[in-house]
Amino acid sequence: MNFEEDLTGKRLVSSSELQADQQPGLELRPDRLDQYIGQEQLKQSLRVFIEAARRRGEPLDHVLFHGFPGLGKTTLAYIIANEMQANIKVTSGPVIERPGDLAAILTSLQAGDVLFIDEIHRLNHVVEEILYPAMEDYQLDLVIGQGPGARSVKMDLPRFTLVGATTRTGLLTPPLRDRFGVILRLEFYAPEELKTIVQRAAGLFQVSIDQEGALELGRRSRGTPRIANRLLRRVRDFAEVAGQEIITGPIADKALHMLNVDRLGLDDMDRRILLTLIDKFQGGPIGLETLATAVCEEKNTLEDVYEPFLIQSGFLIRTPRGRMATEAAYKHFDYTAPTPLRQSRLFD
Ligand code: ADE
Repeated sequence: MNFEEDLTGKRLVSSSELQADQQPGLELRPDRLDQYIGQEQLKQSLRVFIEAARRRGEPLDHVLFHGFPGLGKTTLAYIIANEMQANIKVTSGPVIERPGDLAAILTSLQAGDVLFIDEIHRLNHVVEEILYPAMEDYQLDLVIGQGPGARSVKMDLPRFTLVGATTRTGLLTPPLRDRFGVILRLEFYAPEELKTIVQRAAGLFQVSIDQEGALELGRRSRGTPRIANRLLRRVRDFAEVAGQEIITGPIADKALHMLNVDRLGLDDMDRRILLTLIDKFQGGPIGLETLATAVCEEKNTLEDVYEPFLIQSGFLIRTPRGRMATEAAYKHFDYTAPTPLRQSRLFD
């Protein structure tokens, strides 16, 4: 069986070439750690671990990245492979359904390879158990068949580096988490860092953007490079159609306004969440499920994609009794916060 497909033709793992075709934006990704902007502490640690492993002539220890979507976990996995001069195989938790799927991937690895498993928290537990001896002792331990005829197959695997990515470490089972030698957390980016990321991307796209234009995009990208790069493409369309050669601050502002991205970077769904809380539920507290139903969005998407930025920006809080809009959220929409919000409701 080709490791890239199972018998139904479903893709289990892809090489970096396949990935480059499939993911718009990949060509923007930096190849090396010193081209990667932001996440300074994380980079400092990673640089040391990579250098030490290279000096010893050994593969890097298994690495787990956790952080919200779009912050650069996949980019860092590719950078690790590049810096270690290793091949990378890319797959994701939900795609690996059976132990045999993972066994096919593991037995295709060569010494030193990087195996990147995105959304590693979504591996099912039978598959996850195959990973434990593979990570710890480079052993494949597979049971073939069922009942009295079942056979156990043991195989040595080459020494490889597993890079896992998850939106939250809390979603990982402790035995899996404990088998990563390096656990690193990605933070939201500062507007100035996103400005530099936008300038770099604009250079690669051959788009002219001035300092103010890049900073405007940096400020309104919810601390997330993926959003900054997406907005840059849309603002570029706007500038081109408007016959503007350079994206300036005012042009970026106009384009972002047209895209319904407000001056703090909140988009339609962010506003819908806050306005639903304020207008329909008196600011909360309400449970996550009720909020998700009210805004017609998946509970997980709300929790992983929208809430973190709203919480970080001080517009939303999680209390034991549910989600609440803060005074800053009321102010953002030019509403007056009800007095009880400032007194008892936050703390009862
Ligand atoms: N493109 C997306 N994220 C980036 C980052 N952190 N540094 C440089 N370019 C990027």
